[in-house]
Amino acid sequence: MWPAELSVPTSKLDVDAVVAHPWCGSVCDRPLEYRGPHQLSRNGWTNFTERLERGEEIALLRALAVGRAHALDVGGGTGELTAAVATQAGRCKAVEPHRDRVAVLGEMAAVEVHPGHAEALPFPDRSFDFVLAAWMLPYVQDLRAALHEIARVCDNEDPDATIVIVGGASDNELVRLLNDVCIPLSGEEPDHQGFLLVEAARAFAEHGFTDFSLLRTEAALHFPETSEDDRIKSAATTLADFWFEGHPRSVDMRLALEPALREHFAHRPHAIGDQGIALVARPSRRR
Ligand SMILES: C[S@@+](CC[C@H](N)C(=O)[O-])C[C@H]1O[C@@H](n2cnc3c(N)ncnc32)[C@H](O)[C@@H]1O
Repeated sequence: MWPAELSVPTSKLDVDAVVAHPWCGSVCDRPLEYRGPHQLSRNGWTNFTERLERGEEIALLRALAVGRAHALDVGGGTGELTAAVATQAGRCKAVEPHRDRVAVLGEMAAVEVHPGHAEALPFPDRSFDFVLAAWMLPYVQDLRAALHEIARVCDNEDPDATIVIVGGASDNELVRLLNDVCIPLSGEEPDHQGFLLVEAARAFAEHGFTDFSLLRTEAALHFPETSEDDRIKSAATTLADFWFEGHPRSVDMRLALEPALREHFAHRPHAIGDQGIALVARPSRRR
């Protein structure tokens, strides 16, 4: 859908238009402050990625990285997106705190991995012309520090420099199920992906990145099991383990997910959507 040889359409939003955009969720439901990080488990994330199909997201990132030569992926994870950017830009640096994921990234061609955190990126100001942070912001301790670091290392004097934040769309099916079923049992505040995108736009605007676009991608977790009961059990484990592996109420969460998943699979029998939004920020001089 996003052939790398074509330029990606931009909608030229200003920061206020991002804040008000329905893809960032209803303004009334948005929290006033960051809820704090989710715990991303090791096994939960691995099981999750084995089910995840996100070819459209990969194609979008490749298209956005066309012409970029100094790329960074913050929170590279197991490197699927890092590799896509490296393919386009020639190489890609990655910052990642988790030891096992650092090892995986370290094995990848054209990827240079730096153990570390988004809140303190180990690079001088304006080191990159492409900075990606995909599905990473919900895991940082200090959201504001992470966003300002991402903007600091991207070259706001290069009119084509590009920051891309990928997060969940307001109709993301996975986040809805977790918010509706697991969050009330966890005692935590609900997740709000749009809040993170809005906070990112506000922080980037302070650094001169005031030319925004929002682009939507479709991705989904797939459950090919023939038996509905098998699908429900697999999906309940995958979802509960994603943020709550080892949580004292994780068994209750799995049980509570089962009726919600039965209802979900009645409408979409083999997939749970992980619909994404890419916030793309560039310096204002592009106008
Ligand atoms: C959901 S995964 C996404 C990985 C990758 N960006 C992707 O989309 O495939 C989130 C990643 O962020 C990393 N992470 C967690 N806290 C972080 C922080 N403070 N700074 C940078 N990365 C962090 C996790 O270790 C994990 O690899």
